[in-house]
Amino acid sequence: PAKAVAAMADQNPASLDALNAIIKRSEPLVPGATQAVLGEGPVGAAIAFVGEQPGDQEDLQGRPFVGPAGQLFSRAMEQAGLSRGDAYVTNAVKHFKFTQRGKRRIHEKPTAGEVSHYRWWLERELDFVHPKIVVALGATAVLALAGKAVPITRNRGPFDFGGKPFQGFITVHPSYLLRLPDEEAKAAAYEAFVDDLRRIGELAA
Ligand code: URA
Repeated sequence: PAKAVAAMADQNPASLDALNAIIKRSEPLVPGATQAVLGEGPVGAAIAFVGEQPGDQEDLQGRPFVGPAGQLFSRAMEQAGLSRGDAYVTNAVKHFKFTQRGKRRIHEKPTAGEVSHYRWWLERELDFVHPKIVVALGATAVLALAGKAVPITRNRGPFDFGGKPFQGFITVHPSYLLRLPDEEAKAAAYEAFVDDLRRIGELAA
């Protein structure tokens, strides 16, 4: 990995497009992904959201947050008065990792080593986008941004990722909201997520 990072740094992309071309050509760390899923949204976006890794739908369509979690995310943004098209949306890890069960591909959480492999790209990407605030959606994004594990429930809200040229914010991952078994708890968690998004909108204004 150290050699890989040095090789990446050697390429020294001069723009987000150049960086994305490098990411697109890269092999997944774990074989199986259809394609690298790049970040999406305007350079200069005030808000950047960082997820974990592409899921099944994202892997097939080549776009971030278009599957079930992404649809919930879009709905929550709209409810919070944020325009998804104005935001930059990306992932800590750019390739889908999964185990095959019959026809289904079951998402597998990236390891800390895998997250760190992709970290250099994420940092360059955010340098180019230059957002005012970067939102970590869940623990993997926090790990990627902070460079260490940080418990997310205790640190939910504005958060200093350390020496970064943007404000930080921690909230839950939208797929967590889909997984909650109890309907009442799910509705409350969804409302809390929308509240976080409203606050993020205020901080970015
Ligand atoms: N979950 C993520 O973390 N990212 C996506 O793009 C989709 C689901």
